[in-house]
Amino acid sequence: MALVNTKKMFEMAYRNGYAVGAFNVNNMEITQGIVAAIAEEKAPLILQISRGAREYASISYLRAIIDVAVEENPDIPIAINLDHGDTFEICKQCVEDGFTSVMIDGSHHPFEENIRLTKQVVDYAHEHDVVVEAELGQLGGIEEDVVGVDDVAAHLTDPDQAVEFIERTGVDSLAVAIGTSHGAYKFKSEPKLAFHVIEAIQKRVPGFPLVMHGSSSVLKEFKDLINKYGGQMPDAMGVPEEAVSKAAKMAICKVNIDTDLRMALTAKIRQVFAEKPAEFDPRKYLGPGREAIRQMVKHKLHVLGCAGKAAECL
Ligand code: G3H
Ligand code: 13P
Ligand code: ZN
Repeated sequence: MALVNTKKMFEMAYRNGYAVGAFNVNNMEITQGIVAAIAEEKAPLILQISRGAREYASISYLRAIIDVAVEENPDIPIAINLDHGDTFEICKQCVEDGFTSVMIDGSHHPFEENIRLTKQVVDYAHEHDVVVEAELGQLGGIEEDVVGVDDVAAHLTDPDQAVEFIERTGVDSLAVAIGTSHGAYKFKSEPKLAFHVIEAIQKRVPGFPLVMHGSSSVLKEFKDLINKYGGQMPDAMGVPEEAVSKAAKMAICKVNIDTDLRMALTAKIRQVFAEKPAEFDPRKYLGPGREAIRQMVKHKLHVLGCAGKAAECL
């Protein structure tokens, strides 16, 4: 069994200058596309499940799908992370459901409340060998009505607060706000990330793993297909892959990707529907979507530098 928590992955990622991809899963095709790429590239993997995914697919179905992936890939370390848990109760439930990692996102709370809530989750999770990710600072996009670098600047993670937060909570990793946001509309003009925030934390807490949310690049290939075949995403803009690679070489050990998966699947489904309007066999449009995810994730593993690193993370 290669179901693991993220401790060893982050230790190796930090030491060897790469990041592990954390991909959101909502159904079988998305999971299979990701896992096929990981198996080919021999990379460590974090599969993550949001509260929305739990509601959509039900946790027992998602767990069963992931269990097959784990069983079929004993040489690949796979972690299951709760993405953006918002209460102690949901984190506790996920620990009971066999997740190996939980994120408690208290970033919308005042600093002291974020610390209290995170520590409560850490104390419980650590008793069960489950690791905890927390968040400090505020991303734009779906979390806040803040989009664009100018507005985001005021919400970046404060490195002094981050150091205090890490020390007082005992958390295993921290998601930092460095100018990214969730979704497909991250920037209105030239994308810029606050690498100085990573550097400042890295200097004060060497060896501590940081997490980058909102890391999708909004790949041109899929954006163009979506727009060509009846979609409307003309202004979509993501994080340039060079910026993701740069962060991955620094203290960012986990890179969260969901939007690029959604766009790959949507683009291919739109293409099939447009080119073959008579098609109504779901396998004929979900299949190409799954294949596009496989190819896209393979490419991402090289952007993150984690291809070929599975063995050292076991
Ligand atoms: O952080 C956001 C992820 O893309 C998950 O999105 O809550 O709609 O599943 P979701
Ligand atoms: P994207 O929307 O950029 O894919 O970010 C996903 C994410 O951060 C999930 O927690
Ligand atoms: Zn996120």
